[in-house]
Amino acid sequence: MFEDLNGRTAVITGGARGLGYSLATALARSGVRVALLDLLPSVEASAKRLASEYGVDARGWVVDVTDPHAIETVFTEAETELGTASVLITAAGITVWGDSVDVQAATWRKVMAVNLDGTFFTAQAFARRALAAGEPASAIFVSSMSAFIVNSPQFQASYNSSKAAVSHLATSLAVEWAGSGIRVNAIAPGYFLSDMTRQFTEANPELAQQWISDIPMGRMGEPEDLHGLVTYLASESSSYLTGQSIVIDGGYTAL
Ligand SMILES: NC(=O)c1ccc[n+]([C@@H]2O[C@H](COP(=O)([O-])OP(=O)(O)OC[C@H]3O[C@@H](n4cnc5c(N)ncnc54)[C@H](O)[C@@H]3O)[C@@H](O)[C@H]2O)c1
Repeated sequence: MFEDLNGRTAVITGGARGLGYSLATALARSGVRVALLDLLPSVEASAKRLASEYGVDARGWVVDVTDPHAIETVFTEAETELGTASVLITAAGITVWGDSVDVQAATWRKVMAVNLDGTFFTAQAFARRALAAGEPASAIFVSSMSAFIVNSPQFQASYNSSKAAVSHLATSLAVEWAGSGIRVNAIAPGYFLSDMTRQFTEANPELAQQWISDIPMGRMGEPEDLHGLVTYLASESSSYLTGQSIVIDGGYTAL
């Protein structure tokens, strides 16, 4: 659909499964070479699947996005093998639920480290190379509608705060890099079906029903619902769009 994507290279964190992997398939379908980064060793099998299903070069790297040195090393290897990335998607993320008065410091820090620090370190490694290449580039952070609203009935202050920070990080970096050809936007999904949410909805089907009853469209999102938006943001078709967080939630936050 967006022909300028053909032959470009993307780095996708959290790419072993879930929304990250699904977004990788959307780019691969457009002819993009893909570097998948994840903590899970299955990331290598995910990359092989992508390569065989879509006929593009794809490689997987096991890496922790909270480690800036490891991220730098992986970006250097990925650049050698797949070319300089002009698209970045940061989907690595975690959520932890709990009453705030009981949350341990280590848990709070972990959520911030993966969701916020990991997004920043990855964006930094991406931008260093995109600036050197001097070509237009697009970074897309996976934020959440939780950046703007408070989910219910679960308590997840650390997640909500980390995603608010991710959205403002996108705005901050967008302004900083606007004159250098790097656009930075965020997508802010509502409730989507993925391994992250399935662990909760399968344990508690009534919870899923409660979420769905608050979604005007009457269903949770499927990962494919994000494909059009993400390929548009990756493509130069959105060349004047930067610094935004785009909520995609079946109307949840419109109520
Ligand atoms: N599913 C939803 O409803 C929903 C809604 C809004 C936003 N999101 C966001 O979408 C992103 C993807 O979530 P998902 O639902 O696909 O969950 P998921 O758990 O299926 O995928 C997250 C991936 O991130 C990886 N990851 C976690 N910590 C990491 C680390 N330190 N280093 C590298 N990789 C790491 C995991 O191994 C996993 O593969 C997350 O940022 C999440 O916050 C999800």
